[in-house]
Amino acid sequence: MRSRVQRQHTMTSDFELRRANAEDVDSIYNLTSSMAAQGLMLSRSKYKIVSTLTSFFVIVEKSSGKVIASGSLAPLWTDLCEVCALAVHPVWQGQGLGAELVLHLIEEAKRLKIHQVISLTYQVEFFKKLGFKVVEKSQFPRKLWRECMECPKLEACDETAMLIET
Ligand SMILES: CC(C)(COP(=O)(O)OP(=O)(O)OC[C@H]1O[C@@H](n2cnc3c(N)ncnc32)[C@H](O)[C@@H]1OP(=O)(O)O)[C@@H](O)C(=O)NCCC(=O)NCCS
Repeated sequence: MRSRVQRQHTMTSDFELRRANAEDVDSIYNLTSSMAAQGLMLSRSKYKIVSTLTSFFVIVEKSSGKVIASGSLAPLWTDLCEVCALAVHPVWQGQGLGAELVLHLIEEAKRLKIHQVISLTYQVEFFKKLGFKVVEKSQFPRKLWRECMECPKLEACDETAMLIET
C-alpha cells in the first residue's frame, strides 16, 4: 500500500513528514500539552521542546500547513534511544500517521547506528503492531531514564516499556 505521507517528494500525497523547526514549537507544545492534560503522555515545556528540537519530526497537512503530529528520538546511550513526544492530533488519528512517524524514528535510529529503540507507553497494541516487544524496565539502568526524572509518577510509573532492535 502506498503511504499517504510524503517522505520522498511526491506531490500527490496529503501530508509531509519532515524535521521540526523553530516555527513548529508552539504547535508541538499545544499538541503534546493537550495529550498530557488527558494523562496520555508526559507534559513538556516549550523550553524542553526547544532544547531537544533537533531530535523532533513533525507531520504537516499540506493543504492547511498545520502540524498534526509530532515525535522525537532521544539518544539515551550509544546503543539505546527512546521514542518521545509521540502525538497525532485526534482528528487525524487512525490513518496510519502515528505508524509512519514511528517507522521514520526507527529509520533515524538506524542512521544514528543506535540499535535499540525503546518506548515507555500506554499504547501497547499500537507499538506491538510496529514490531516492538514488551520488556522489563528494570533491565535498563535507572540513569538512562532522563524523561522519568521529570515525571511526577517517577517510582510509580505505570507505563509499559517496549523495545525494538533496529
Ligand atoms: C498512539 C497514537 C500516536 C497512534 O497514532 P495513530 O495515527 O492514531 O495510529 P495509526 O493509525 O498509525 O495506527 C497504526 C496501527 O495501530 C493501531 N492502533 C493505533 N492506536 C491503537 C490503540 N490505542 N489500541 C490498539 N491499536 C491501536 C491502529 O488500529 C493501526 O492498526 P492497523 O495497522 O492494523 O490498521 C495516537 O493515537 C496518539 O497520539 N495518541 C495519544 C498520545 C499517545 O498516547 N502517544 C503515545 C505516547 S508513547
